[in-house]
Amino acid sequence: MPESGAGGPVVLVEEAADRTVVTLHRPDVRNAINEAMVRELHDVCARLEDRPRLLLLTGAGGTFAAGADIGELRERGRDQALQGINSRLFDRIARLPLPTVAAVDGYALGGGAELAYACDVRLASPSARFGNPEPGLGILAAAGACWRLRDLVGASVAKQVLLAGRRLDAEEAHRLGLVAEVVPSAGLLTRAHALLDRMSRSGALALRLTKLVADAPGGHPVVDDLAQAVLFESGDKDARMDAFLAGERVATPGRTS
Ligand code: COA
Repeated sequence: MPESGAGGPVVLVEEAADRTVVTLHRPDVRNAINEAMVRELHDVCARLEDRPRLLLLTGAGGTFAAGADIGELRERGRDQALQGINSRLFDRIARLPLPTVAAVDGYALGGGAELAYACDVRLASPSARFGNPEPGLGILAAAGACWRLRDLVGASVAKQVLLAGRRLDAEEAHRLGLVAEVVPSAGLLTRAHALLDRMSRSGALALRLTKLVADAPGGHPVVDDLAQAVLFESGDKDARMDAFLAGERVATPGRTS
């Protein structure tokens, strides 16, 4: 295992044909997101943009991530804030071509929560805690929480988290739709992989265009029609529909028989 300090990697990356698994790995500081981690996550993004695959993001040692590294934040000024160090990374993750899943065990605070909010789907263990304590440090949650969290749970709850320090535990996050499912810690990654397996059975181009259209800021239904026009001309669509019509059901995602 690489060390989380002393210049070793701070994210562990496992690559498979259809997915990449990334584990944030600075367990001694609760996976606090430092400059090296930002750089390594950008490298992962570059590879996924180049060769699209699903992404599973998780944290080592029973924590997802306890936010940006406060030691580094303490030294940053206006110019670093304007660089959007975390916000640009999380935007890049949000725009990855294929779906992303965050498996959240333990704390997801500050930038750690914002990283989870930037993923397409979140699964949580019972110990998961989502929160944005940034104002308590004299700053604002500037890497997505002020708008992504509102989109995910509504303005009222988002403001309780952002302005009143409310932490959402796993059950609350599930009830509010922030997480898809609460799974015991020991089975969390297995469940996340099962979710990716299901996604993986869909057409990759169909998933990619669905994500683009679902995240499109406007232009509906024109953008939906354009994406569908591309898919209607794809050989994958013909093959999948021919298989269905021939009575083969296995290629259709979500079916159990
Ligand atoms: N940045 C830098 N270091 C951090 C960190 C962060 N965001 N979060 C935790 N750490 C470090 C602690 O300083 C401590 O280091 P030490 O062992 O050298 O003292 C170590 O990680 C363990 O943290 P500790 O607070 O002892 O663990 P805990 O399990 O009792 O509590 C948290 C975990 C996540 C609740 C607590 O660490 C915390 O509140 N962290 C800050 C969260 C935050 O404000 N994030 C927003 C940043 S913008």
